[in-house]
Amino acid sequence: MVRVVVAGGTGGMSNKSPKEIITAIIESGKHTLTVWTRSANSSKHNLPGVTYEQVNYDDKDDMVKKLQGVHSVLCFISQPTVQIALVDACIAAGVKRYAPNEWAARSNSGSFAYHEKDQVHEYLQEVNRKEKVLEYSLFQPGLFTNYLSAPIQSASYCPIWTNQWDIANRRAIVPAERDWQLSTTTIQDLGKVVAEALAYTGEWPEIGGITGTKTSSSEIIKTAEKIRVLTPELPLGPFKIDEVSTENLRAGKLGASWNPLLPEFETTDPNYDRVKYSEYVVAQIILGGLDGAWSTSDEWNKLLPHLKLTTVEEFLLRYWGDKK
Ligand SMILES: NC(=O)c1ccc[n+]([C@@H]2O[C@H](COP(=O)([O-])OP(=O)(O)OC[C@H]3O[C@@H](n4cnc5c(N)ncnc54)[C@H](OP(=O)(O)O)[C@@H]3O)[C@@H](O)[C@H]2O)c1
Repeated sequence: MVRVVVAGGTGGMSNKSPKEIITAIIESGKHTLTVWTRSANSSKHNLPGVTYEQVNYDDKDDMVKKLQGVHSVLCFISQPTVQIALVDACIAAGVKRYAPNEWAARSNSGSFAYHEKDQVHEYLQEVNRKEKVLEYSLFQPGLFTNYLSAPIQSASYCPIWTNQWDIANRRAIVPAERDWQLSTTTIQDLGKVVAEALAYTGEWPEIGGITGTKTSSSEIIKTAEKIRVLTPELPLGPFKIDEVSTENLRAGKLGASWNPLLPEFETTDPNYDRVKYSEYVVAQIILGGLDGAWSTSDEWNKLLPHLKLTTVEEFLLRYWGDKK
């Protein structure tokens, strides 16, 4: 059993995946867990079995004091300045292990604002250059398989939305250029891997790839075509495919016959346009896919071979297999 702090574990407006991971850690019964939040009203957060603690990431002494006796820190905060301050506090407090805010694609993927993740990785390499002062692992699960259940919620907290594969309506958006490879992992399996990794007695791998299924966009479509019956009148059949040019993808546009739609979230940006933003996000996912961003590795699969991770086919059968 180890003492764990989860910085930014309250989950965010886009995702809330931290809560899924925290739940898996609590359910493992193996660790004690404190979530750090900037919020003065930590009583508004109420995951059972979790202690919430208010923290000021600008106050190193405060962080070092709070980290006494803590074995591992998991981070879900994107801002590199905050993460770097947290890494420094971990080193000063003698924390053994740190998981930076990765939880997605390969390093140097060029996608979204993921260069921030690479900045923190570089800092972790830098502080450990002369001697190892903080063990760390970049948990990289690829794309969450859970989006393939949309609009059915396949997660307790993380909002599930339709991305480029709309299994419900048997259609998909693909790049005109070529097929793309990826790894997919369910959020719940990511949680199980993290819970086991916290108890792992060997050294953490620097790159901590996790792969539920190694697949490709076309294989996901083929598998779904075997499973998704639209109505009794429309039995199994091919998906409607919209091909998008690389030019459109680079411009953050899809120009498809339908638009994926991200969940609503609160924003103060007067120019925010939900449809355009959703197009941009999916265009980024596909572009990243063409560059291999989502083709993560499988270090944690190899280190934890007893964990059986959900495959795309098992997931699709669970959510769509009996919807005839
Ligand atoms: N693999 C996939 O398919 C996939 C999909 C979506 C997301 N992800 C990954 O999941 C991770 C978490 O995403 P998320 O949307 O839940 O996170 P988020 O909203 O960006 O932030 C998580 C928490 O960090 C704290 N925070 C935010 N800004 C901060 C700041 N400036 N200083 C200090 N704390 C701050 C907030 O907690 P308090 O306000 O309580 O302090 C917030 O609840 C990301 O790394 C993302 O890339 C992966």
